[in-house]
Amino acid sequence: MRTYRLVAIPGDNIGPEILESSLRVLEAVQRAEGNFALKIEKHDAGAFYYQRHGVRISEETLEACRRADGVLKAPVGDPSIRTPEGTEAGLLGGVLRVGLDTYANIRPVRLWAGLASALRNFEPGQIDYVVIRENTEGLYVSRDKGVGNRHAVADTLLMTRPGVERVCRFAFEFARKRGRGAPADGVKRVTCVGKSNVLKSYAFFRDIFWEVAEGYPDIQAEALHSDACAQALILQPVRFNVLVMENFLGDLLSDLGAATVGGLGMCPSGNIGEEHSYFEPVHGSAPDIAGKGVANPLSQILSAAMLLEHMGEDAAARRVERAVWEALKENSVQLDERGRALEGTEAITEAVMSRI
Ligand code: NAD
Ligand code: IPM
Ligand code: MN
Repeated sequence: MRTYRLVAIPGDNIGPEILESSLRVLEAVQRAEGNFALKIEKHDAGAFYYQRHGVRISEETLEACRRADGVLKAPVGDPSIRTPEGTEAGLLGGVLRVGLDTYANIRPVRLWAGLASALRNFEPGQIDYVVIRENTEGLYVSRDKGVGNRHAVADTLLMTRPGVERVCRFAFEFARKRGRGAPADGVKRVTCVGKSNVLKSYAFFRDIFWEVAEGYPDIQAEALHSDACAQALILQPVRFNVLVMENFLGDLLSDLGAATVGGLGMCPSGNIGEEHSYFEPVHGSAPDIAGKGVANPLSQILSAAMLLEHMGEDAAARRVERAVWEALKENSVQLDERGRALEGTEAITEAVMSRI
């Protein structure tokens, strides 16, 4: 029996609600497959943890994340819990993305069965691309380090050659392994997105992208400006396959993509490095719906499926994805126009579990 030690971080606001759904699904899939076992350890961290302990995550939890076979994290953060500088005190991107050097953030945007896109005229599967977000530098290198006074403030955007090279290479390797091209034409394509027409840093990123592209003659490479890309993601999402971009742009465009496929509750992600990785929804802790039982847990459930795949449990990952697809196709999951679960978080969890 293969055994994996997992760390689960319940997070803040809707975090514990959707993490619980995903843990129940993991338990069900483990039982159904019968050839692996998960030993799950829960660790608190985030905004409310900071309020109680004065730090956002303990050293012990960080060490547990480093040693675990897998980490499943729910969203953290609360707008009311801030640092003296005015930014939020309970976020974990600095420690888990930079700290564990999880440099590539995989953010799939896929229109699943049974869901109406806000764009209306697309069939399930016709929107199916992956944003690879650079996760350790770009504008976010300035996280907690901006300088200024009450008259002016500056944050810095940094691109380094090794940082850009490795994320571009990751995107091409990912496109090669993914097994399918863009829905429009089946072409395996990597799109580099940036503001290279105006800013030196993005021109640097794009030039390195072209250098890396030379090593992948089987993959079509292209570059788009980020503003034009935002329009194209709405008007022609079918032409996209894999996109690679700087950290802050990846933050923006992945939420934009979410809006076209049923909302953030449909969007899982994986933060991947050479040594460490962790999996979490793209969205935040949604304080506006916390405790109401209407959060869509599929983002967390699909993050768990990505974790299973990353650990090599492909059959289990496919079983979870199939159960989600069937539940959606058979209309057992209903979302409102803002992506909330019309019949509740619990009903979606049950609909997936019964199909596992
Ligand atoms: P958010 O992503 O939490 O919410 C944006 C909107 O989407 C809200 O209306 C929310 O109700 C809705 N939404 C999000 N997830 C949903 C789901 N699963 N089902 C249904 N609706 C869902 O963004 P925000 O309100 O800007 O941020 C809230 C907090 O989360 C902040 O503290 C922010 O810093 C933090 N945050 C954390 C992460 C993370 O931990 N990875 C990511 C983003 C934001
Ligand atoms: C995300 C989030 C984070 C980010 C925040 C919470 C720091 O929005 O993972 O997309 O901006 O990277
Ligand atoms: Mn974000």
